[in-house]
Amino acid sequence: MNPIIVGISGGSGAILAKIAVESLLSKDIHVIVTASSSARQMWLHELGIPFSETLSDWEERPNFTYHNVADIGAPIASGGQATSGMLIIPSSMATVAAIAHGFSDNLLRRAADVTIKERRPLIVLARESPLSAIHLENLLILARLGVVILPPAPAFYLKPETVQDVNEYIVEKALDVLGVPNAMPDKFRYGGREEP
Ligand SMILES: Cc1cc2nc3c(=O)[nH]c(=O)nc-3n(C[C@H](O)[C@H](O)[C@H](O)COP(=O)(O)O)c2cc1C
Repeated sequence: MNPIIVGISGGSGAILAKIAVESLLSKDIHVIVTASSSARQMWLHELGIPFSETLSDWEERPNFTYHNVADIGAPIASGGQATSGMLIIPSSMATVAAIAHGFSDNLLRRAADVTIKERRPLIVLARESPLSAIHLENLLILARLGVVILPPAPAFYLKPETVQDVNEYIVEKALDVLGVPNAMPDKFRYGGREEP
């Protein structure tokens, strides 16, 4: 499988990005990460650790690449970099709006623009509540372009027992859409759980 781009923006849900990157690394898939400055602030706010600390851990893995969001000359700014698609996790409404209107003012947004123009899979974990008509119209633009809008919504019907269960399910569902092998453990399949 070609590398997967993980774009981390400043929506709430930093833990989802952490689980996604670590799940891909554990599956020996090459991950290319870029994170907005809001995402880095959110990391500290929600996870209690500086993003740079997590990055240092990830950078020890041979199948990990990081590009600063200001580095608009990075390979993922061009269709020449082969990828198996891109995940934006979580995606803020600002990032949704920018991508929907081709406003590629940072590397994350440019990489999404490239993913769309190259007709590769783009999965957007759009995080906002409630959603305004502006958000919905921008999401509709993306959906009509073939982008998969996957809100980080719990699968209540699976009767999750922990917040970790909820988070892992959301991430594995997104990775499954990208065709990541073995992405949906049996415990996350409908009917895969026994009644207590
Ligand atoms: C604590 C906190 C939580 C936020 N949660 C969200 C959110 O869930 N969704 C969203 O669209 N924006 C949220 N924002 C606002 C974004 O971080 C802000 O719009 C930012 O400019 C997004 O930039 P980016 O898309 O380049 O990361 C939040 C901001 C803060 C400080």
